[in-house]
Amino acid sequence: MDVCKSIDDIRGAVKQLKAQGKRIGFVPTMGALHKGHLSLIRQAKERADEVVVSIFVNPEQFGPNEDFDSYPRELEEDLKKCESEGVSVVFAPNRDDVYDKKKYIRIEVDELNRHMCGGSRPGFFEGILLVVNKLFNIIDPDVAVFGQKDIQQFQIVSRMVHEFNHDVELIMAPIERANDGLALSSRNKYLSVEERETAPGLFRALNYIEKQIVSGVDTPSLLLKHQKSELEAKGFKIDYLDVFDKKTLQPIETLIKGKEFILAGAVWLGNTRLIDNLLIEL
Ligand code: PAF
Repeated sequence: MDVCKSIDDIRGAVKQLKAQGKRIGFVPTMGALHKGHLSLIRQAKERADEVVVSIFVNPEQFGPNEDFDSYPRELEEDLKKCESEGVSVVFAPNRDDVYDKKKYIRIEVDELNRHMCGGSRPGFFEGILLVVNKLFNIIDPDVAVFGQKDIQQFQIVSRMVHEFNHDVELIMAPIERANDGLALSSRNKYLSVEERETAPGLFRALNYIEKQIVSGVDTPSLLLKHQKSELEAKGFKIDYLDVFDKKTLQPIETLIKGKEFILAGAVWLGNTRLIDNLLIEL
């Protein structure tokens, strides 16, 4: 497995693979790899000949009071995991390899980041698009795999790929969960023992709401209000818990048959922010 730090090196490594006619699968990550990431790598392997993984904690997608400094960094262990999954190349650059000291050009997102995580994390998706745009330009993959847990990210990246004419197929891989239902996340490491026991409550609430919707509740505002109170009583602080249109990512008051929705929540348990979602097709 090649480990490349510089843009020249990763470009060279990918060029060699492409010269052999290989199809390149790409999994962008911020490291601290868990089973969720490994399932993305496996999905990429199914669709490509060689898999490239990037490991880069992207400073541009963290707000000033967010956890950039404390975000888990475990490069040695991550490399071992990549190696045992059969990854061909890892791109693990430093900040200065990726960003100039001063940037003159930014990407703006309209409407699609007004709600969900975009609503409470200003600049988050602009930072993601900046780095994903760069990574696509540097690696030029045939297929790239993202997780459903970050479904707003997937939808906004898809839109960027469309509007910026990136020649890459995007795959959304299903959420990997612990046995008790908690969506796997690098940030789960922050949870205390007690918080970890409480954490699957978010998934349980989503499941309950989904069941009610599937069995006929088409205006879920009261149901959502009630579930928010239940979660608060368990110690969660709610950022959002709502149903969104899958394409426009706007909140939906009345659910119409024949459409796809995202039932999504973001909550705080102590200092840890957890997100989760279910796709609902009526
Ligand atoms: O999903 C993530 O881990 C990050 O947002 C990504 C796509 C690697 C960009 O930094």
